[in-house]
Amino acid sequence: MAKVCILGGGFIGRFYADALHGQRSRDRVEVVYARKEETAIRFANDYSIPHYTTSMEEAVAHPETEVVVIALPNHIHEEAVMLCVKHKKAVLCTKPLGRNAEEALRMTKACEEAGVFGGYLEDLCYTPKFLKSLQSIKDGAIGRILWAKSRETHPGPHSDWFWNIEMAGGGAILDLGCHCIEIARNFIGKDIKPVEVMCWADTQVKPIDAEDHAIGLVKYENGAIGQFEVSWTFRGGMDLRDEVMGTEGTIWTNSFLRTGFEMFTTGKGEGGYVSEKAESATGWLFPVGDETHELGYTHMFTDMFNAIEEGRTPQESFYDGYVVNAIIDAAYKSAKSKLWEPVQLPDWRGQEGLQKPSVYQEYDADHWFIKEELLPNGDLKIILKKKESGEIIEIEKLNLK
Ligand SMILES: NC(=O)c1ccc[n+]([C@@H]2O[C@H](COP(=O)([O-])OP(=O)(O)OC[C@H]3O[C@@H](n4cnc5c(N)ncnc54)[C@H](O)[C@@H]3O)[C@@H](O)[C@H]2O)c1
Repeated sequence: MAKVCILGGGFIGRFYADALHGQRSRDRVEVVYARKEETAIRFANDYSIPHYTTSMEEAVAHPETEVVVIALPNHIHEEAVMLCVKHKKAVLCTKPLGRNAEEALRMTKACEEAGVFGGYLEDLCYTPKFLKSLQSIKDGAIGRILWAKSRETHPGPHSDWFWNIEMAGGGAILDLGCHCIEIARNFIGKDIKPVEVMCWADTQVKPIDAEDHAIGLVKYENGAIGQFEVSWTFRGGMDLRDEVMGTEGTIWTNSFLRTGFEMFTTGKGEGGYVSEKAESATGWLFPVGDETHELGYTHMFTDMFNAIEEGRTPQESFYDGYVVNAIIDAAYKSAKSKLWEPVQLPDWRGQEGLQKPSVYQEYDADHWFIKEELLPNGDLKIILKKKESGEIIEIEKLNLK
């Protein structure tokens, strides 16, 4: 059993408390901190939490606090992590870890140097569909990963501070791209170095200083490409989709708008909440059966608490949060320079010096293989490249039945 302190009484704090107290969980939230007393009291009442406070340090230092969960706006993550380091409490921080890689690396190092557990709460790398996809990829089911695309778009966040570039640290790239980048990084391989980023970003709709829409490409040292597509201006709910292409197969997942649950209502009845960022409660709807589970929160906390008990690194650590921030920093530079920008990773812990694998696959002593295809008439065509001359030819195996 873990005794948890949640810092922040807002949107994600409630999702976390739902996950922690859900089903027959043994883990309990013992302490909650919120900036406003009324928020703290309401949160404590809703989740039967015995202790509440409006002092962040008091919450972290509280004798009933074993593990701190940070559910605060981005500009307070570092301050909260440093309090956990000071009081030697295990800390789990929501995404993005920092507003930039500098902040994220400071947090990562401070925890490591103090021997404090640092878990990165990247829930979308724990959804049941993601975990199953990742296992299939690790088992080799789709071969070598060439391209991993992840998309998160919705009509924009739910609190003022997100829209303030100083507090949030960025716009849709930082807020949503952090998920997409880490999803693609997992599929491609976390030990493969992200080397450079090309990004388009623009403010198309909202009167803000940050970007509300962006698309980016992250090039990895082994030749693989990660792609992120993010928007705070998308209409029609929250779109969470991944596509992975490998040399031996493909994976497509849709985690939210199309979960296999479709419903129509004229609007009769009480209506109300359908799912996160749903824009309508009438007409054709795409509800989500169990959001807490389908968004990955239950598997995420299970891995975090198991990792603390087993003395191991969780599947998503502060170091991962740092790498994601470094990729995002390069994306922001690229959006300005309109060039491929290098990912600055002074602290890189994965493989070094990889190259794109050879594209030459032997067909026979004289030919490289390109592809074969069965035609509608039953003929088989094989396309080859002559090793000596480089000429591309086709041979046909006719179906003469
Ligand atoms: N899928 C996810 O993992 C996910 C989803 C949403 C938000 N988040 C992250 O969670 C964090 C909080 O986002 P949220 O959606 O809960 O925001 P929110 O605005 O709903 O809640 C933030 C809470 O933090 C506290 N707070 C607000 N401003 C503060 C300040 N200046 N000083 C101290 N405390 C303050 C308050 O208790 C407030 O309720 C952000 O880092 C965000 O990126 C993660």
